[in-house]
Amino acid sequence: MEEGNNTETNKIETSNKKRNIIILMIIISIIIISFIVTLCVILTKKKNPSTKLVNNPKEFDLENRRVKLNSGYYIPTNGIGTYSLYSDTCINSIQAALSNGVRLIDTAYIYSNEFEVGEAIRESGISRNEIFVTTKIYPHQFDEPEEAIKNSLDTLNIDYIDLMLLHHPGDNDVKAYLKMEEYVKKGKIRSIGLSNWYIKELKKFLPKINIMPAIIQNEIHPYYQETEVINYIYNDIKDKNIIVQGWYPLGGRGYNTELMKDEVLINIGKKYNKSLPQVILRWNLQRGTVVIPGSSNPEHIIEDNNIYDFELSDEDMQNIANLNRNEKHDWY
Ligand SMILES: NC(=O)c1ccc[n+]([C@@H]2O[C@H](COP(=O)([O-])OP(=O)(O)OC[C@H]3O[C@@H](n4cnc5c(N)ncnc54)[C@H](OP(=O)(O)O)[C@@H]3O)[C@@H](O)[C@H]2O)c1
Repeated sequence: MEEGNNTETNKIETSNKKRNIIILMIIISIIIISFIVTLCVILTKKKNPSTKLVNNPKEFDLENRRVKLNSGYYIPTNGIGTYSLYSDTCINSIQAALSNGVRLIDTAYIYSNEFEVGEAIRESGISRNEIFVTTKIYPHQFDEPEEAIKNSLDTLNIDYIDLMLLHHPGDNDVKAYLKMEEYVKKGKIRSIGLSNWYIKELKKFLPKINIMPAIIQNEIHPYYQETEVINYIYNDIKDKNIIVQGWYPLGGRGYNTELMKDEVLINIGKKYNKSLPQVILRWNLQRGTVVIPGSSNPEHIIEDNNIYDFELSDEDMQNIANLNRNEKHDWY
């Protein structure tokens, strides 16, 4: 009888133990999940976005649609970006741009379309010195920079490069930049600069080079305004006379569904009888950033170039500044 009771008690104890273990595991799981969720929230929480206006001392010559670089050359204040435009689409887009007055073309080794860019320029019949071509060398090319520069010169085949940028910071970036400096002296590259360099990177990099970058090209659109970096370049290191250029001005191909429907921008556009893209591009010009919207659609290309016949008021510049979310649309 007693033996039976003991067995019963043991069973109850075992089942209690099991239940306690399960409860403990549930509690531990809840704690771990809460910790992971909190960590994710902290990591993804965006810094308070700046809604300050850019204090831009650079007067863009909007009448002539250009701004002077520290190299002495002029860069057009708007152009066409060619990221993800290939083959005939690339050639047709550039031809549409050139025949409608666009004179700045942005490409890169990594876009695999330097040949098409050169081809479109050669076929355009427009004199070479009226067109400004930017290309970029990619970090995996930095350990053999001369090969990279020669490769872009050969593939573009347009005699010289107006502006060559290091596409991103990376191993041997100083070595690559110093090689670009040599090609400036040889007259094969007219101006040089950097892309995706921010304040910390600039502070580290600039003391190591001889020719100041003419351009810093970074992601800039109403949801990622890059205000601190632009103010740093235009005020803190004003003496270096660097011009800022924005990539993804319309939020980036494939990433701009929300931006292209933004009610604030649409309503601003209505006041000036301009489209949302035109408002964004004009906002860039007024805060001193050269723009290179990408497009494969001739109507869009014409529209994106038609941004010189209106001026956004200070109030509207502030309304756009208020849209900043520090929302990067790409990883670099
Ligand atoms: N340095 C870097 O790391 C870096 C990184 C990314 C990009 N970039 C450069 O920046 C350029 C711009 O970036 P992106 O081309 O990716 O993006 P984007 O210029 O911000 O946006 C391009 C998108 O907007 C559309 N679009 C253009 N004009 C329009 C208009 N008037 N109305 C409606 N939609 C319009 C285009 O479609 P449609 O083709 O239909 O017009 C395309 O889907 C690139 O082409 C590249 O040259 C540089």
